Amino acid sequence: MAEAAMGGNPEHVPATGGGSDVSTISAAAPAEVGVRFEVDGEIATVTLDRPDKRNAQTFATWSALARIGETLPEQVRVVVVRGEGPSFSAGIDLRMFTPEGVPGQGSFASAAALGDTEFEQRIAEAQKGFLWLRRPEIVSIAAVQGHAIGAGFQLALACDLRVVADDVKFCMKEPALGLVPDLTGTKPLTDIVGVPRAVEMCLTARTVGAAEAVRLGLAEIAVPVSELAQAVDDLAAALLSTDRAAAAATKRLLQAAPVRTLEEQAAAERAEQVARIRAFVGGASAPD
Ligand code: ACO
Repeated sequence: MAEAAMGGNPEHVPATGGGSDVSTISAAAPAEVGVRFEVDGEIATVTLDRPDKRNAQTFATWSALARIGETLPEQVRVVVVRGEGPSFSAGIDLRMFTPEGVPGQGSFASAAALGDTEFEQRIAEAQKGFLWLRRPEIVSIAAVQGHAIGAGFQLALACDLRVVADDVKFCMKEPALGLVPDLTGTKPLTDIVGVPRAVEMCLTARTVGAAEAVRLGLAEIAVPVSELAQAVDDLAAALLSTDRAAAAATKRLLQAAPVRTLEEQAAAERAEQVARIRAFVGGASAPD
């Protein structure tokens, strides 16, 4: 892939908009990037916007996602990731497997010619588009309808929470194509469903529907397609009803809990709470 492969230098373009702080992402090759970004107060919305190609993702998509993470306005507390059209995302743009690749972005054939370190660095750049969605300062919600295949499933998994439509079809298709899931999806998947279920799901590349997704904890709630946006709005509003600093501190605690002992976690709770209570009572510092 060429240097331009990592995406067309997206930038925020302010747009006029009824009192809200609204911006739209644009890029050198918007048709290939297919990502829209809007901020309305404390809620940001990232929209995969190539519905005619079922929101297939390219290097430029991941670069745009990473840039959104790097430049996310400080006031944002909730990030909604959604897909335009009938599918959340059909995964990686299959043109990347062709010798011609995606115009301006090369292909895996050109990437494979790189040394291991440089090739892995390219993958790390792509992963940046996913990793920021777990930051403690925000809560990310994937609003998922229709197909969420491969990179699409992984993007949904990159979010803290998933609200799905009853037509959702999750599928980790990578092993069927001779690949591994490498867009940060294996960790959240195993955290949520456990290793045996993840092995079964990935190594059969089968489809998981809405009822099973809710049962396994892959989705918080499933609703009719027509109610997806409202369900996400309701969840975002509920998330914004808690104290901002306490929410971030609590998310830090919850995220670290699985890798700590009970004693370590108890110590972490104490440390966070001392800061919280001091803030609560007006910053009084205790005597030594
Ligand atoms: N890459 C590039 N183009 C795609 C992709 C994709 N992953 N998925 C769909 N498209 C395009 C189709 O080629 C078609 O384009 P065209 O109108 O120019 O012919 C258009 O999107 C619509 O696709 P349809 O197949 O007609 O849509 P439908 O709703 O019937 O099916 C589905 C959707 C099931 C998602 C199907 O398109 C599909 O199986 N896509 C491929 C999924 C895939 O294998 N992804 C890779 C996973 S592995 C990974 O992500 C690392």
